[in-house]
Order: sequence, then structure tokens, then C-alpha cells
Amino acid sequence: MKINRRSFLRRTLAAGSLAVGTGSLLSACSGLRRADMPDQDFSKPMGGQPDQIGGAILYHACLAPSGHNAQPWFVRIVQKNEWVIGLDPQRRLSEVDPDNREALLSIGAFAENLALAAGTYGFQAEMKIIAENPFQQDIIKVSLKPTSPNAYPLERLKRRMTVKQGYLADEIKKEDIRELSEPLKGRLFYFPKGSEHADCIEEGAIENFRIQVNREGAQQELVRWVRLSNKDAERHRDGLTVAGMEIRGFKGWFVRNFIKPQDFLKPSFRQQSIDLTAKLARQGGGWLIITSEGQTVADLIDSGRRFERMALLARERNLALHPMTQYLEEREGLDQIAANHAASVIPQFILRVGYLKNYPDPVSLRRPVSWFVRS
Ligand SMILES: Cc1cc2nc3c(=O)[nH]c(=O)nc-3n(C[C@H](O)[C@H](O)[C@H](O)COP(=O)(O)O)c2cc1C
Repeated sequence: MKINRRSFLRRTLAAGSLAVGTGSLLSACSGLRRADMPDQDFSKPMGGQPDQIGGAILYHACLAPSGHNAQPWFVRIVQKNEWVIGLDPQRRLSEVDPDNREALLSIGAFAENLALAAGTYGFQAEMKIIAENPFQQDIIKVSLKPTSPNAYPLERLKRRMTVKQGYLADEIKKEDIRELSEPLKGRLFYFPKGSEHADCIEEGAIENFRIQVNREGAQQELVRWVRLSNKDAERHRDGLTVAGMEIRGFKGWFVRNFIKPQDFLKPSFRQQSIDLTAKLARQGGGWLIITSEGQTVADLIDSGRRFERMALLARERNLALHPMTQYLEEREGLDQIAANHAASVIPQFILRVGYLKNYPDPVSLRRPVSWFVRS
């Protein structure tokens, strides 16, 4: 019986994903965007089929952010209402994230979206951390318990995105910081642009980006997650697309059609990306730091969940957040942080923050649900 249900859900999802229109019909003028590749009709409100509801919950979960958009999650359906969220070892970023810290933060964000979506479909998602260390594949056991549906606006999950350009220089309003702090429970710190700490973070973000771009292993890993042509983007539905990197217009068209991921290894490309990062790091209203209590799997999942809750609130206030993680990935950055802070300060996210005049629609792609559901 269990096996039947499990395979039914997988079959339903797989059949649905085949029915989706493909991006190859698109004009060559625009890169693939999320709206061009809907995951069947999970993005719309659904009827009462339990397996469809499961699919809809997982669709909303996978809209979570992840480093390099690697989408490091898988979900095993143990029974209809009992799932395991896991970390897919094929999707690890071993060069920039050797300890799976960021993969677990991303899985935390996925778990938060899952819980929010489950609530709107009339399930409380009870979660238990089952991984004893960050290298185990099975991370969270999820039990879905029927309850009355709540009215959380799922649109928020679909509207959230990482924006990198066009930040206004305005300082972030106190009431906005107060609202963003709510899910972080004293673990969010704001440094307004021009403050001593913000200047220090800005400089460190640029310097550690420069170090990483010149670290061969890290740059080779980035190349493996870059999806420049529409064909590549459509085939993988993950990673960093041209639209996701905010390369637009003629430049975007040129990159999609004439540049190969390996070109990112050329010195001129590396220099261009350092120059762009330096320009971006100076835009915006300052920096947010999120810290955690510890470094256990549970701490990282918890941090990822709280970060996602905050990111969803930020979107509603026209605030963009840009994780600039190289500071936490390079030895030099970590040593500098350790030398200047007490050991109890454990930063998990370094985020540039700023208001936007116009919030764009999300562009980063997601693998269809059936691609990450396992039996
Ligand atoms: C743990 C983590 C680390 C990230 N680090 C970076 C980063 O260093 N630079 C960057 O541009 N984006 C970073 N991102 C944002 C991802 O690239 C982004 O979430 C992904 O491409 C999907 O896009 P979306 O957030 O618009 O859905 C990070 C996201 C997470 C969750």
C-alpha cells in the first residue's frame, strides 16, 4: 500500500512535468525566466487530490533560495503524510561550501517554505532533525498533520527573489528593521551605509570576492553551475542563468549565444566580475548580518528557516537582499572575522540590503518537483 501511494505521487508528478510547455518556443531575444517554465499547474491554487496537494506543497518549498541556485534538496516520500528532506550529495558545492553550511541553510529555507505552504493546504508540518552531522543525506523528517488551513499569502513565496542591481542608497527605516528582526529573535544586525562597520563589511566583501574569483577550484565549480544558453538552462533548470545574473539586453543576448561557461576562467572575465561586485557592494542602504547560536545541523536549519521568513517580509517592504557569501567562504575572511569578534558571534549570512524602486519578477529557474522527489 505504501509503495503504491509513493509511486503514485512520483508518477503523477512526472506525468505533469512532461506536460509542461518548453522554453524552446521562446524567442531568441529573451533568456529563460521562471514564468516561461511553470512546473505544471502547481503554481495555481489546487483542488482536493492529496497527491496534488503534496505536489503543490513541494512546488512552493522549492522556490527557496540556495547558493549558486544548486537546489541541494531531495524529498523522499515515506508515506503520504511522512516525508524526509535530504541533502543531495551531487548538488554539494564542495569548493565554496566544504562543510555543507550553506547547503543546510538552503535546506532550512526550503523547509520553511514547505511549512508555510503546508499550513495553507490544511497541514501542520512537524519537523524533526534526524541528521547527526552535516554529511548525512537524510536531514529532516516531516510529518504532515491535518489541521484547519490558514490564510498565509503563498504569493509571497513566488514573489521573493535575490535582486543584485538598482539598490537605492536610503537608510533602512527603523520600522522595517524592526519587522525584519521579528523572525530572527535578536540575531539580526543592521549596519547603515557609511557606518564604520558597514565600510568594513563592504571592503571585506569585495576583497574576499577577489580572492575567491582567483581561486581556481572555486571558479571551476562556479563554471559547473553557470547555465548560459537557453538550452542548458532548460535542460538543468538550476544554477545561474544569464537572467539570474542580471545580464540584460544586447549583452544578455550576446552572453547566451556566444559565451561559454569556460570563458569565466579567463582573466578578463574574472576582472570584470570583480569590478561589477565592487560597484554593487557600494550600492544600497547598508548591510545585514544574521548570526546563529551554534553550528550544528539544527542550528543551520533553524537559521535558514528564519532567514527565509525574513526574506519573505523584506520582499513585501520593497527591500532587496543580496547574500555576499565569499566573506564566509574564504579562509582570509573567516580569519578576519574571528580576529575581530568573540567566538560566540557566528555569522551565517552577510547581506547587502536596499530599497528598490521597481521590484522585478523572479527569473531563477527551479527543477520540477518530480525531479527531486524520490521513492
Ligand atoms: C546560503 C546562500 C548563499 C548565497 N550566496 C550568494 C552569493 O554569495 N552571491 C550571490 O549573488 N547570491 C547568493 N545567494 C543567492 C542565490 O544565488 C539565489 O538564491 C539563487 O540564485 C536563486 O535565486 P532566487 O533567490 O532569486 O530565487 C545565496 C543564497 C543562499 C541561500
